[in-house]
Amino acid sequence: MTSTATLRDRIVGLDCPVPLLDGSEAPYLNLDNAASTPALRDVLDAIERFLPYYASVHRGTGFKSRLSTDAYDRAHRVVGAFVGADLDRNTVIFGKNSTEAVNKLSYRLELGPESVILSSQLEHHSNDLPWRRCAQVVHVRATRDGRLDEEDFDRQLHRHADRVALVAVSGASNVSGFVQPIHRLARKAHAAGARILVDAAQLAPHRKVDMLPDDHPEHLDFVVLSAHKMYAPFGTGALIGPKELFAHTPPEYRGGGTVDAVTLDHVVWAGTPDREEAGSPNVIGAVAMAAAATALMEIGMDAVADHENELVVRALERLGAIPGVSIYGEGDPAKSRDKVGVIPFNLGTVPHALVAAILGYEGGIGVRHGCFCAHPYVVHLLQLSDEEAATWHAAIARGDKAEMPGMVRASFGCYNTLEDIDRLTEMLERIARGDYRGRYQQRKSGEYLPEGFEERFRGYFEVEEPDEVAGKGGGRSCGG
Ligand SMILES: Cc1ncc(COP(=O)(O)O)c(C=O)c1O
Repeated sequence: MTSTATLRDRIVGLDCPVPLLDGSEAPYLNLDNAASTPALRDVLDAIERFLPYYASVHRGTGFKSRLSTDAYDRAHRVVGAFVGADLDRNTVIFGKNSTEAVNKLSYRLELGPESVILSSQLEHHSNDLPWRRCAQVVHVRATRDGRLDEEDFDRQLHRHADRVALVAVSGASNVSGFVQPIHRLARKAHAAGARILVDAAQLAPHRKVDMLPDDHPEHLDFVVLSAHKMYAPFGTGALIGPKELFAHTPPEYRGGGTVDAVTLDHVVWAGTPDREEAGSPNVIGAVAMAAAATALMEIGMDAVADHENELVVRALERLGAIPGVSIYGEGDPAKSRDKVGVIPFNLGTVPHALVAAILGYEGGIGVRHGCFCAHPYVVHLLQLSDEEAATWHAAIARGDKAEMPGMVRASFGCYNTLEDIDRLTEMLERIARGDYRGRYQQRKSGEYLPEGFEERFRGYFEVEEPDEVAGKGGGRSCGG
């Protein structure tokens, strides 16, 4: 792969100075890549080159419209190539993100009241809740350490065999980072007459995703992606799947762009993907996503995986050695290959929200804490009893999130370094020793805020509100 140093030059805003509680500044360390990655410079460059030519797509006849339409169409093909889709038989549908893509599929898949979606306890809510609306969801269990229990998968697939319309699993967990055996599950799903959806939101930034040929027993029927997790934060996601599924029924969202002809009592729906992309599309987002996919293919996903594996090994070794740290999921550095760079942990009895706050306010380190939109899985990993979960739910119902269970999550991108892991470790060691300066107060929202700290974005970046415009200086540049 491109060396890490060169790769770091391709990230926008890396090492941006951010304010700390003691009044100094430190280069920002983003360890929240599982939520959103920063932008690749390749993406920014593509947008800057494209913007002067940007115009309406599909129906405009001017040069810029023709160029923009070509760019938008090509973006579909690039994203298809990124996941190895056979585009003679499959279509790439752009939307906002993975959540929208899964919801779309839930509306477009033909399901009856008896249909079963075989999902798992590991899923992000975005690959669980949409299915609960329209089918019976069977959640395959997680093992004690948080892996997919494949024996349970086999059992459930067998039990519901003739009713399983879809196996819906994540390619990698956004909580534990565990990578699922998606091709083996695909083979089993197909043998049972079902199809498979892989929620690749968390897998695609870290590992190569290959749908394989449509007639391959391990072919992935549907894949969803989020561009903002792939270094292209411009509001696009994709659903990739067989054209034939969308060809014979009308879309769930209807309007401009979805039709070939309309009379007062009849509609001729357009072909795919147009019929599935209602309204004026996010052309910039599509161009950005394609630029990110091209850059990642050029960098090489195997090289990305190797580099990130070094980060995981170092993180498991160093975090595991801090007194009081509990790592959830796989904590053994020798088994680092089983997961992408997502590490959930707690630090003794220090509340997860407090750890995250100190890392942010005093270390300039961005992580995430809580349940990461995967409540059943986090409850499982934390081994909460039913009573504990019920107490928590009752508190949430009262609007009190102070006792919300959870973890801290550090997640890596391809540009992070071993030094980044060391910086995280050193801050955690300080927190473990009680060596931090702030006095933190917890809000009802569950967040901890340091006393006396006044948040100031002015001088960094702020959207100007009308009454503030006069006399305000511009933000400063942050290498982007
Ligand atoms: C595994 C997984 N699936 C789905 C999603 C939802 O992605 P988005 O918010 O981009 O729709 C996420 C986001 O964190 C995720 O990690």
